[in-house]
Amino acid sequence: MNLQQIKDLDSAHFLGVFGERCPVCFTRGEGCTLYDQDGKAYTDLFAGIAVNALGYNHPAVTDAIVAQAKTGVLHTSNLYYVAPQAELAALLCKHTFADRVFFSNSGAEANEGAMKLARKYFYKQGSGRYKIISADHSFHGRTIATVAATGHDYYQAPYRPLLPQGLTQVPYNDIDALKAAVDEETAAILLEPMQGEGGVTPADPDYLKAVRALCDEQGILLIFDEVQTGVCRTGSLYCCEQYGVTPDIMTSAKGLGCGFPIGAILATEKVASAIAVGDHGSTFGGNTLACAVSLSVMRYMIDNDYSAVAKTKGEYLMGKLRAVKSDKIVDVRGMGMLIGIQLADACAAGALSRKLLGMGFVAGTAAGNVLRLAPPLVISEKEMDAFVEALETALADM
Ligand SMILES: Cc1ncc(COP(=O)(O)O)c(C=O)c1O
Repeated sequence: MNLQQIKDLDSAHFLGVFGERCPVCFTRGEGCTLYDQDGKAYTDLFAGIAVNALGYNHPAVTDAIVAQAKTGVLHTSNLYYVAPQAELAALLCKHTFADRVFFSNSGAEANEGAMKLARKYFYKQGSGRYKIISADHSFHGRTIATVAATGHDYYQAPYRPLLPQGLTQVPYNDIDALKAAVDEETAAILLEPMQGEGGVTPADPDYLKAVRALCDEQGILLIFDEVQTGVCRTGSLYCCEQYGVTPDIMTSAKGLGCGFPIGAILATEKVASAIAVGDHGSTFGGNTLACAVSLSVMRYMIDNDYSAVAKTKGEYLMGKLRAVKSDKIVDVRGMGMLIGIQLADACAAGALSRKLLGMGFVAGTAAGNVLRLAPPLVISEKEMDAFVEALETALADM
């Protein structure tokens, strides 16, 4: 099939949620390079929306998939013990605050589970606390509950009245607004340590510390959504480590499987002990293949200190971007290898990313007219230099 034939099938039969997609279909990848059907090469600086941390065809991913597939056991269900699931849970507990882990298939599902866990924690105590406060411009997923937690009218409007009840949003980085929203029915505060989709906006260090203090004073649970910021991307295994703030519950996905779908809910024993048999579950979540791949990539990234890699490369790339002289760049911000280039109104991020695609570079966008970069962590300085050069040319042409 050529690209036009794929487009025709897609527009005739696929649910129209993605509209007119970027005009390319990638068919092969190696390292940090993607190839389209005609063999044209593209340098990737978006990693499938902050997913493919080890790039393409990395042995830690590919060999783990092949080896597990060759056993013939991809999935057995959670009725039976799953060895890589147990090992992956232990690895995550060893390297984070968590005592217990549950595996889901996606970030949204992990956030759903995290909210259930928070509510169950208070239900078990006979408490009436059920409300969950999140932030404006946040993004927590596309399920009915995670849409209600996502502080953006664009995502919420078609689904009002929102389900479940008790989910509200307040301005991000505004501790007074959060304090004012808390009441005796508040169960949890759900935040991204750095908002990704919302515009690549890091939390103020004082803000997260004040949120933790507020939760401790009021007996509220703190949930960090590290679906986008987790797994070494921002320069530490999980972003919250750099803030010195520990949540009660945390969610992870995206980079956790480096392209293989898997999510996780991580929790302290205090919270996790509220869960009883039958409270939560999943057919596919935590299956053998997903956990075998995730175990392989997590071991590889931890053993090879990919947090430090992301920090060093992120500083390099951000330095280069900050040196670009263009009145179309208003700000360059981010942490590690999650970087936002805030553009002037006159330069639309979507149009810029399409122009870059035509020049052989894959970059993303985020809300608020931001060009978003989340490169595979295996990207080289040479590849980053080439991107910055292309960006300068593209900006001059826009
Ligand atoms: C912070 C955050 N939470 C949750 C999600 C939803 O994850 P998924 O698309 O895997 O359901 C995303 C996806 O972009 C995200 O960035």
